[in-house]
Amino acid sequence: MTRDLARASEGGNQSKCEERGVVYYGDNLPILREMAAQSIDLIYTDPPFNTGKKQARTQLRTVRDAGGDRTGFKGQRYRSIKVASRAFDDDFDDYLAFLERRLEEAHRILSESGSLYLHLDYREVHYAKVLLDGIFGRECFLNEVIWAYDYGGRTKRKWPPKHDNILVYVRDPEQYVFNAEEVDRIPYMAPGLVGPEKAARGKLPTDTWWHTIVPTNGKERTGYPTQKPLGIVRRIVQASSKPGDTVLDFFAGSGTLGEAAYELGRRFMLIDDNEEAVAVMAKRFGDMEGVRFVGLDSRQHELAERQGQLLS
Ligand SMILES: C[S@@+](CC[C@H](N)C(=O)[O-])C[C@H]1O[C@@H](n2cnc3c(N)ncnc32)[C@H](O)[C@@H]1O
Repeated sequence: MTRDLARASEGGNQSKCEERGVVYYGDNLPILREMAAQSIDLIYTDPPFNTGKKQARTQLRTVRDAGGDRTGFKGQRYRSIKVASRAFDDDFDDYLAFLERRLEEAHRILSESGSLYLHLDYREVHYAKVLLDGIFGRECFLNEVIWAYDYGGRTKRKWPPKHDNILVYVRDPEQYVFNAEEVDRIPYMAPGLVGPEKAARGKLPTDTWWHTIVPTNGKERTGYPTQKPLGIVRRIVQASSKPGDTVLDFFAGSGTLGEAAYELGRRFMLIDDNEEAVAVMAKRFGDMEGVRFVGLDSRQHELAERQGQLLS
């Protein structure tokens, strides 16, 4: 794992050019800690929101055992053993401490012209803003992007919350990447007022993005419950990275950042510690060449191989 990680997170040799993306299965903190300083050009990440519920995860490892309860790679029998049980109360203090350790690593691994997009909701964003001001410095705060949607019921007890917040920080306010010309343009609200040429070209989006959620029965849908729309993540990749750059999502879920990166010619690194997320990504990247999976156990190897992936 260490060798793979170092190689994948360093920069530009021949074999890496052929590799389009790497998916790591595991807790993101130790993996982030192994990544080389200033090796990542763009981070978009969408952590689990603070639910107030206890989050518990038991980590299992499979060992070969003729009398085991699972059939794995090449028909071998395996037995599961519990290697760790991790839990945190998903309450305020624990949540912020959980985020802080990871955001410190995010800052360390960002390149000098790199950017971080942290996707949160209205309940946590203000605390995270203060946290990131401390890690990056207030002068490195670039934007708060509001993703506004219009889906689901409307409470009559308050203004119905229908937006997410994306905090944008840059490593260095003097030399960050921002390709305004590469960003997909949006229609004018009153095209008749701007003339046909401008109307046809559309306008640059502001910091408020109206975009539908992932349609429940559309082609984009992977079935992963917290999947974010490709249109939102694609815009981030267009604006804040260049072709050939390396982009990272360390709370990857269904791997939306990977799909946007692949489409736009960026290398991607994705991390998730949920087996279901890795299985969804194996399917999502099934037709893409040069995507490697790291840290899978035998059952996932089998699944990924069936999906036609490269395996480490
Ligand atoms: C909100 S989802 C991300 C959804 C993603 N943006 C997408 O479009 O599908 C957050 C993800 O973080 C993962 N996660 C939570 N804690 C983690 C950790 N410590 N290490 C790695 N992944 C983690 C969860 O398994 C979940 O898939």
